[in-house]
Amino acid sequence: MSNFREDFPIFKNNPNLIYLDSTATSQKPSLVMDWLKNYLETTYSSIHRWLYDISEKSEKLYNDSKKKVAKFIWTDSYKEIIYTYNSTYAINLLTSSIWLSKQLKKWDKVLLTEVEHNANIIPWLILRENIWIDIEYVKLDRNYNLDLDDFKNKYDEKVKIISFTHVSNVTWQIFDLEEIWKSKRDDTIFIVDASQSIPHMQINIKKMNCDYLFFTWHKVFADTWIWVLWWKEKLLKELKPSFSWWWAISSVGDNCFTYAKIPDKFEAWTQNISWAVSLLKAFEYIEYIWWYEVLEKYENELVEYFLDKLKKYKNIKLIWSNDSKNRLWVFSMVIEWFHSNDVADLLADNNIAVRSWKHCAHSFFDNIWIKHSFRVSLYIYNTKDDIDSFFNIIIKILNNK
Ligand SMILES: Cc1ncc(COP(=O)(O)O)c(C=O)c1O
Repeated sequence: MSNFREDFPIFKNNPNLIYLDSTATSQKPSLVMDWLKNYLETTYSSIHRWLYDISEKSEKLYNDSKKKVAKFIWTDSYKEIIYTYNSTYAINLLTSSIWLSKQLKKWDKVLLTEVEHNANIIPWLILRENIWIDIEYVKLDRNYNLDLDDFKNKYDEKVKIISFTHVSNVTWQIFDLEEIWKSKRDDTIFIVDASQSIPHMQINIKKMNCDYLFFTWHKVFADTWIWVLWWKEKLLKELKPSFSWWWAISSVGDNCFTYAKIPDKFEAWTQNISWAVSLLKAFEYIEYIWWYEVLEKYENELVEYFLDKLKKYKNIKLIWSNDSKNRLWVFSMVIEWFHSNDVADLLADNNIAVRSWKHCAHSFFDNIWIKHSFRVSLYIYNTKDDIDSFFNIIIKILNNK
C-alpha cells in the first residue's frame, strides 16, 4: 500500500514531511502534473470560441472531462455539469441564482444541519438579510447522526430548500441522506454538499436523489478547481444565472439578450481549462488505485490502527464519532490543558501538518462546550509510520506539559 506514496512528488521533495491535512486539500500525483505540463506545452488555448486546431482539441478535452464527471456520479448528461472555481463559489452561485429567479420568497424556510461548513451557511444568511427567509438548523442525535425526529419537526410546509452536507467536516460522520430524500416533498429543493464525501466514496446521484450536488476536486488529486452538478435539467433550465457575459448569452442587442442553453448559461467566464483537462488524469489515477474499493479497504485499516493507538492516551479526547464504520479517516481531537493551535504549532515544528481551530464551522463550535480542536486527516499516501510519528510527537507534548 505504501507504494502509493511514491506517486506523489511532494514527498520526494520533502522527505520528512508528514502530511495529515488532506481534507483541507490533497496532494497531487505525478500522473496529473506531468499531463498538465504536457497539455500546457502542446495544446493549451482558449475554448468555445475558435476553430483553430489546438482550440478544438482543448474544447474536446474540456468536454471529455465533463463526460467523465457525469459518468462518475451516474448522471446521464454531461450538460448538467457546471464548472465553477470551488464549492464556496458553487453554493454562492446557486443561492444568488435562486434569489434572482424568485424561487424563494419572504418567510420561506431553508433547513441546514447544525454542522454545516460556513460555505453552506453564509450565502443563506445573505439571502435572509435581503428577502427575509427563515433558516433552521437540524440537530445531531447522540451518535452524531442527523436527528430525524428533529428533521421531521422542522420540515413543515414553509420549507422550500433543504441544504445538507453529506459528510460533516467536523464530526466526520457519514449522514444517511436516504431518509431525507424519501420524505422530501415535490415543492422542496434538495441540495447536497459532497465536498468531503467525494474524496472517499463513490456517489450515485440517481440513488441519492438530490436536485443539486456540489463538490470540489482539489481534495481528490486535481487542483483548486471544481464542478457543480446541477442535477435535474428541468430545474437548471428554470434558473436564471446571477451573473453573465458572452458565451452564457446567445444573442445580445442594445436593449435585449437571450440566455444560452445549459450548461453554457452558467459558465460565463473564461474557464480554468488546464485544470479541467487535468481531471481526466485525476480520474485515471483513481482508476489505477482500483476505484474506491482499495481506498476504502486501506482507509478502514488506517482508521482501526489510529483508533487502537489512541486508546492508550486517556488525555487525548477524540471528539464526535468514535464509530470505526460510518466515519472517514479523519480525527478531530482535543488534549486536556492544551490549546489546539499550540498542539498544531508543536506538530508543525516537527514537520507534521495538521489543521486546528474551528474548521470553518464557527457557529457550531460557538454553541458547544468545546471551542476548538485539532484535526488529523489521512489519505492514500499516508502510512502507519505517519501515524506512529504523530503519536511519538504527541507523547513528547504530553510529557513536557
Ligand atoms: C463540507 C465542506 N463544504 C465546503 C467546503 C468549501 O470548499 P472550497 O474551499 O473548495 O470552497 C469545504 C472545505 O473544506 C468543506 O469541508
